[in-house]
Amino acid sequence: MKHRDHSNLLAALAAEYERHSPRSAALNRDALKHLVDGGSHTLRLIRPFPPRIVSARGAYVNDEDGHRILDFWQGHYANILGHNPEVVTRVLAESFKDGFGLQTGFTDRLQVEVADILCERTGAEKARFTSSGSLATMYATLLARAFTGRELVMKVGGGWHGAQPWGLVGVDFHEEVRHAGRGRPDEEQGFRQPESKGLPSTVAGEVVVTRFNDAGMLADQFRRHGRHVACFIVEPFLGSAGSLPAAQEFLAVARELTRTHGALLIFDEVISGFRFRAGSLSHLYGVQPDLATFAMVMGGGMPVAAVAGRADVMALAGRGGGVKFSGGTYSCHPASLLAAKTMMSWLAEHEGEVYPRINSLGEKARRAIEVAFRSEGILARCTGDGNGVVSGSSMGAVSFPRDEAMGCCTPEQIRNPELCDVELSDTVLQLALLLEDVHVVHGLGSVSTAHTEEDIARLEEACRRVARRIRPHL
Ligand SMILES: Cc1ncc(COP(=O)(O)O)c(C=O)c1O
Repeated sequence: MKHRDHSNLLAALAAEYERHSPRSAALNRDALKHLVDGGSHTLRLIRPFPPRIVSARGAYVNDEDGHRILDFWQGHYANILGHNPEVVTRVLAESFKDGFGLQTGFTDRLQVEVADILCERTGAEKARFTSSGSLATMYATLLARAFTGRELVMKVGGGWHGAQPWGLVGVDFHEEVRHAGRGRPDEEQGFRQPESKGLPSTVAGEVVVTRFNDAGMLADQFRRHGRHVACFIVEPFLGSAGSLPAAQEFLAVARELTRTHGALLIFDEVISGFRFRAGSLSHLYGVQPDLATFAMVMGGGMPVAAVAGRADVMALAGRGGGVKFSGGTYSCHPASLLAAKTMMSWLAEHEGEVYPRINSLGEKARRAIEVAFRSEGILARCTGDGNGVVSGSSMGAVSFPRDEAMGCCTPEQIRNPELCDVELSDTVLQLALLLEDVHVVHGLGSVSTAHTEEDIARLEEACRRVARRIRPHL
């Protein structure tokens, strides 16, 4: 696929979308008055404007314009049972009637129960709760730095651990630094930069970026920096950087190297926790991290997150431990914990049905997208397949490789615009699919138990129509 500027295609799609969704368009104009870019959370602020949602159930959301949109984003991968699953909403509604739910500032039995379930299902010794994945990874990083007395945080290029200082380095692929000063292409240069203004000036120097699934480079990085590394933080299944499972060897080597060099291994399971089994994904790899972070699925659609791990490390969060894992008016919010308890217990009871079902639908969705584009002469690759360890997955991301021989196996390939048409997968495809009343992020997202074979057929047909529409512009 050649390099094409998609601005004309995007302008045509935007004009049609404006006609397709006049109420959302009008609301967007109102939104711009007091909301930066018309909303919060940039990923949701689809250009030219996002559909404004009025209700949701299962696989579908309904917008202001009366469209019933088939949703594969499912709350940033959180809604494993679809939107508003009765399993959770019934329990919450009853609790509100019973005078339980919106009281904060105390503690209760639920915290004990949820911590018990979480530790039992993840192999952790101790847990502490907070309210977002970003806070969880920030606290985990503080704990690791305090425990080891070291400064450096190692992460993989493209790894997204939320908006916290050490997570905000090496997330996006920056083309302009690929040849930085050396006169030859250097792939990892793409994931080096701090992603935000306003960060402490020291942060870029405190983060070491290494390549996902490259055990050799990881060993090199530990040889160079090992004495100063507090932790290596990594997702066992990479989410936003391309829907890719970690190789068994990579995580085993990470365990070995962190142990040898006195650093902590942190698995960021904000997405993967309870998405592949009713517990941590690390269990399938047989690799126990020192700390892990959880959020999304475990919260049952409510804001809850956790850091869980070794008792001696977690002890630093306690009285006299010195790490200010504290505050959070809404941390351990009772309604959130009730949703978490309900969801985690339900998944544990139904593990044998839930995961095979969503993994099989995930596989069908990924292949359906590839087939739809191929039938119109467009090469599309849908990542998200399992590997020898992870037997299947409900997740997926679409890439449009510029060359048939390109593998789409690493974030360095998938997010590099020279190798894959990133604008086509992230921007054009999303807007074109919205015109078909289908919502995706990075080309797909995840399937839930609420999705059906008919929904996958609808996705395939929608992709076929999009392929026909964009073909002349490629
Ligand atoms: C792997 C991972 N870690 C952390 C986060 C941050 O979580 P939150 O958005 O709840 O702050 C995310 C969010 O997408 C994530 O995917």
